[in-house]
Amino acid sequence: MANLETQYMGLKLKNPIIAASSGLTNSVEDIKEFEENGASAVVLKSIFEEEIRIQMEKDQKEMQRESFLYPETMDFYDNYAQDDALTKHLQLIREAKKAVSIPIIASVNCVSAEKWPYYAQSLQDAGADALELNVFVLPSDFNKTCDENEKVYFKIIDEVKKYVKIPVSLKISHYSSNLGSFTQQLSHSGIDGLVLFNRFYSPDIDINNMSLLSSHVLSNPSEISMPLRWIGIISDRSACDLAASTGVNDGEDVVKLILTGAKATQVATTIYKNGKSHIKTILEELESWMNQKGYTSLEDFRGLMSQEKTENPAAYYRMQFMKYFAGKNYK
Ligand SMILES: Cc1cc2nc3c(=O)[nH]c(=O)nc-3n(C[C@H](O)[C@H](O)[C@H](O)COP(=O)(O)O)c2cc1C
Repeated sequence: MANLETQYMGLKLKNPIIAASSGLTNSVEDIKEFEENGASAVVLKSIFEEEIRIQMEKDQKEMQRESFLYPETMDFYDNYAQDDALTKHLQLIREAKKAVSIPIIASVNCVSAEKWPYYAQSLQDAGADALELNVFVLPSDFNKTCDENEKVYFKIIDEVKKYVKIPVSLKISHYSSNLGSFTQQLSHSGIDGLVLFNRFYSPDIDINNMSLLSSHVLSNPSEISMPLRWIGIISDRSACDLAASTGVNDGEDVVKLILTGAKATQVATTIYKNGKSHIKTILEELESWMNQKGYTSLEDFRGLMSQEKTENPAAYYRMQFMKYFAGKNYK
């Protein structure tokens, strides 16, 4: 039997399939079902920086009360702030840790490094095995340079690392003018893992009602080409572990991403479409391919097709369809 174990940011995972952060990872029941169906870890639905800030303001008010002597005590969250999003998140972590044995990765959606990172410590204290920072600075501020936008990511990492000892990963989008060098620098910033890539709410237009809508909430299988290309390019140059997200649908996709050098893969859309039991199918497909090739562990083939190792490294950099659209036939 093939050994599917993998090490991802210091966590020993029984296989490379992680339940990605989504509405499906927001309850203990769902997390238990993920474990039962073979997921090796779960990333919780993100808590938003904004929600932590609201808690922070409440904390500050409470601390100004004379009777409030020990602001650091975790009891505070239980006694004073039952309904807050952070409290609920901490509760979810504690309950999930009791209910399952797979690692629980907490997730914070953050846009700045100001003040909130202290609260990352509370996620660690509640029992999170690791922390995934879901950072996105939309490069749409016309008064900011690329450098200014990118510095935010490094500041967030520096601040969070001051407060937590558990492994920290950064989940980023592909919106960067300098993605190769940017991700390489991030990998050297002290983080333990990089998740490539997040996928966001995207606007669309309803032409009948002349209004803006959200669109394409779920990914398309062809979108795997984005993490595939970039993990392939970066994996031999990265100082931290890489996990793939976006477009991972089946066992074949997982094989491809491990061949590019990924340590783990995250799934969301395919679970929305096919249910949690689809993880079992993905694992069977992965194992069956390994058996067919005679591979007994993921290390046997990890990174074999990375940009540095493949026989055709230029294919990773090729962008234009020169050959294909010269005529009508693109086969
Ligand atoms: C309904 C929904 C909710 C999501 N919520 C989050 C979230 O809170 N935090 C996060 O980092 N990613 C979130 N994601 C993004 C997924 O974790 C994942 O990165 C993205 O959907 C691409 O992977 P996929 O192709 O497997 O769907 C969400 C995705 C979906 C579809």
